[in-house]
Amino acid sequence: MKKSVRKAIIAGNWKMNKTRPEAKELLEAIKPLVANADGKVEVIACVPFTNLETAVAATAGSNVKVGAENVHFEKSGAFTGEISADMLVEVGVEYVVIGHSERRQYFGETDETVNKRTKAALAAGLKPIVCVGELLWERECDITEEVIARQIKLDLFDVSAEDVKKTVIAYEPVWAIGTGKTATADQAEEVCAFIRATLAKIYDEETAQAVTIQYGGSMNAKNCAELLSKENVDGGLIGGASLKAADFNTIVQAAVEG
Ligand code: PGA
Repeated sequence: MKKSVRKAIIAGNWKMNKTRPEAKELLEAIKPLVANADGKVEVIACVPFTNLETAVAATAGSNVKVGAENVHFEKSGAFTGEISADMLVEVGVEYVVIGHSERRQYFGETDETVNKRTKAALAAGLKPIVCVGELLWERECDITEEVIARQIKLDLFDVSAEDVKKTVIAYEPVWAIGTGKTATADQAEEVCAFIRATLAKIYDEETAQAVTIQYGGSMNAKNCAELLSKENVDGGLIGGASLKAADFNTIVQAAVEG
């Protein structure tokens, strides 16, 4: 199977940015720009919880989908400050980012909780965007593949082949996030291909070929075309550049070009 059979997905990860009026303004600017990507590239805005309802209303009838930035793994109960998968579904959310390195780094997220969140999201009908990536010193110690294989195996433990096809994997080298230091297209391709090979070992080749694998980490309007031209880079998870409609659109258009 070839890249052309997989769904290309460009997702903005807004992180802790934008009030509701600002969110509406940005989405209104993005919508007409990316309308031509309909049917070719899935375009997603992953926004703070407080913006979800605004985002769902603003994108109704357009080809822009809405994602959350986290989800709790329990269905309900005494988990102050948390949001369940059913709550997200009820608002109209389709995707959810899970295990972002900022969650792992600042909020004690582990592969075990990433796995629980992934399974809870899938059970509720959400499509998870599961983030993996090595730290700089892990790359320098030449253990990138060990780190990535461990994350993939633990994060997807007990996830069926059918469900993994609904799951997006985002390869985000931690040293490239928000630093302006992008992985080279060859580095991104090498790890995305390794992720696919790991999926083929856990599942089978057909399943591995069907999974969308994104690159994330300082992807921008300048470097996106080269990154997205790679065989195993099926899309991008975009932080900083997703907050500017024109830059985000440039990345979407690069994905449309393939
Ligand atoms: P960045 O963030 O594009 O600002 O590096 C990417 C991400 O954290 O998903």
